[in-house]
Amino acid sequence: MLERVKKYIAEVEEFVEAKEHAKVEEFRIKFLGKKGILNDLFKEFKNVEVSAKKEFGQLLNELKSKTEEKVNSAKEALESKDDSKSIFGDLTRPAQALDLGSRHPISIVRNRIVEIFNRIGFTVSEGPEIEDDWHNFTALNLPEYHPARDMQDTFFVQTNPDELLRTHTSSVQVRFMEGHEPPIRTISPGRVFRNEAISARAHCIFHQVEGLYIDENVSFADLKQTLMYFAKELFGKSKIRLRPSYFPFTEPSAEVDIYWGLETETDYRITKGTGWLEIGGCGMVDPNVLDNVNIDSKKYSGYAFGFGVERIAMLLYQIGDIRHFFENDVRFLEQFKADLK
Ligand code: PHE
Repeated sequence: MLERVKKYIAEVEEFVEAKEHAKVEEFRIKFLGKKGILNDLFKEFKNVEVSAKKEFGQLLNELKSKTEEKVNSAKEALESKDDSKSIFGDLTRPAQALDLGSRHPISIVRNRIVEIFNRIGFTVSEGPEIEDDWHNFTALNLPEYHPARDMQDTFFVQTNPDELLRTHTSSVQVRFMEGHEPPIRTISPGRVFRNEAISARAHCIFHQVEGLYIDENVSFADLKQTLMYFAKELFGKSKIRLRPSYFPFTEPSAEVDIYWGLETETDYRITKGTGWLEIGGCGMVDPNVLDNVNIDSKKYSGYAFGFGVERIAMLLYQIGDIRHFFENDVRFLEQFKADLK
């Protein structure tokens, strides 16, 4: 009798952790089930001779606890194996929220402007942010000591007067004209720098989209038409105003205002209570500029314009302070998630 129990104990000890749940279950039922070996043995307890009862009981307990231990460890092993095997892991686990980024509002607005001009045949041109004097000033009819250089307070790289942060992307247009024959239709989006005091309406870093059109017989009427098309496409409003102005590289020159209205407090603030907002400058390319880049100014004429992207974004999104664009506060940026363009 005692020998039988010892054999069972040996059998339990030898049981190698099975690879399938069914095998473990089979083992469990065989020993621990209602009609299993252990129950049978317990029933036989009363028939055991008194002298052997104590040892028999101890052996039975040993068999029982060893069996339970085996079953538990076999089950655990199987479960942990399941986890590592499944490429999906636990399908009931809650998903980890993916933090999706969004485009910066300046990029969204720039892309929209670019797209509007692409539709009427303008290509995109880009150039360096660190410029030389020729491309930022001299070629644009702003020779050394020209007083109009003060219109755009310039950041110089160290003290080298020929290495500066471009003050406008007109520098890209110079580069483009140097490398291309008319007809030219290009827009130059990019970041520009001016040594200006930072306020709600102005920043020392901002973005422009400048446009250039050069061909035979380009007139001021063409310019006006293009600006109206642009205002209509971007704002849904085509009421614009051209105020006579001065730029060294265009003649005649004008400031472009768009009529936005005065409906909200933000409209009031950003238009200084007039309803009109200046979005940029424009004009007919000065013949001196064409001559500087070896384009025949007798044969060709052209127009140019330049817009500030921040100004336009402030209007479109009703943002009252230009500094928001540069702070990169996630709470601000997150609001543009819906506009993925
Ligand atoms: N480059 C000018 C500026 O930055 C804008 C402009 C571009 C004006 C083209 C006229 C024509 O202020």
